[in-house]
Amino acid sequence: MTESQDMARLEALLFVAGDPVKLDELASLLDKTEEEVEALLEQLTRRYQRDPQSGLILRELEGAAALASAPEQAELVEAFYGKVREQKLTDAAYETLAVIAYNAPATRAEIETVRGVDSDSVVARLIERGLVREVGVLDAPGRPALLDVTEQFLLDFGLKSTRELPAVDLLMYDTVTRFTEGEKDMHSQAAPKPLVIAIDGPSGSGKSTVARLLSEHLGILTLDTGAMYRALGYKALRSGIQPSDGEAVRVMLASTVMEIDLSDRVQKTLVDGEDMTPYIRTPEASKAASDISVLPVCRDYCVRIQRELGQRQALILEGRDIGTYVFPDAPVKFFITASPQARAQRRLKDLEKAGVETSLEEVMQEMEKRDRQDAERELAPTKRAPDAIHIDSSGMTAAEVVQAMIDVIRQKERQQPGWTSQSGDGTQ
Ligand code: DC
Repeated sequence: MTESQDMARLEALLFVAGDPVKLDELASLLDKTEEEVEALLEQLTRRYQRDPQSGLILRELEGAAALASAPEQAELVEAFYGKVREQKLTDAAYETLAVIAYNAPATRAEIETVRGVDSDSVVARLIERGLVREVGVLDAPGRPALLDVTEQFLLDFGLKSTRELPAVDLLMYDTVTRFTEGEKDMHSQAAPKPLVIAIDGPSGSGKSTVARLLSEHLGILTLDTGAMYRALGYKALRSGIQPSDGEAVRVMLASTVMEIDLSDRVQKTLVDGEDMTPYIRTPEASKAASDISVLPVCRDYCVRIQRELGQRQALILEGRDIGTYVFPDAPVKFFITASPQARAQRRLKDLEKAGVETSLEEVMQEMEKRDRQDAERELAPTKRAPDAIHIDSSGMTAAEVVQAMIDVIRQKERQQPGWTSQSGDGTQ
């Protein structure tokens, strides 16, 4: 790669990012050291300064860099401001907006507590774009500013008031685990929710296959939550980050955009716009997923998306902690297990299909290690919820397991008529 190509790549990245990008992230994306990135940034700064035909400048702030319009263009930018607002917001910006909208008036410290990352620069940018404003100060030491969303935010998001926002649980992962029974009761009195079916169990238990078959049978979408942890673990690996390094992962997640596309019933797990599905089934990605899924910041990130999806439409979610934590009120929960041999055989088949060369012994060893890590971790271990139906799928075909699940669902329907009618589009 020539220096000119590196410069072009750097410029393109800063252009699409919009928000400041950390130097370490630029370094990892461009496959350069931070010193090399700094040298490139210096050159880019000089280039904009030298070129009278350019309306851009490079801003460097606290270990990050961003493209901005030159001060001479302020008037023009002002005139264009309405349209500038239509630029795509980053995931961090959406998340910060959500925290402010649901908790307004909120202080910067509160936003940081909920998001788990320093949000000052994102807030500054939202203020700059007219989506957030300071509405006063809190009568507390330091008199921190109170923030609220603006009329412009309501207009842009088609809302008359923030009261129209759908109910979303924005509490942090570790806060939620301390819910009292009283608080749980309060939640269960809320408006009827779309149907959620929880399927938990260790890897290779067959839960993905039965989730897919059940999804076809009931006409409900299915979400593979493991794929989300896999995709994040894989992004960490690819960015040269240890998936178990909490601080590095926290920084990585602050600028990570994950989207789940279930539109054609086959899940696409997109990270920063790229579908990670083809890369996340290798043994390295499995190990990275298991490591990264231990981190509270990562669980919080994924759980928030899972809850949002489950609150929007009827959904079958398969994972490890769906019935115990993500949707503890799910009306039907299954916990699927199988003998270690049966699970290793299934996993080996999957790997062979994906073109990965390995042996049964290797798969069993790797699986055992990962199971232990997933089951023994403090946060959200693989655990059967007390009200989950246990199915040992060892000697059963996938069709038999699905039939057993359907029987449970039908029985539930008989006990509570109208129960499955919740499985519409979630707009009730
Ligand atoms: O189901 P799977 O093998 O694709 O999951 C990959 C990893 O992600 C696994 O090691 C456990 C973790 N995981 C999790 O911690 N919580 C979930 N809900 C799903 C998966």
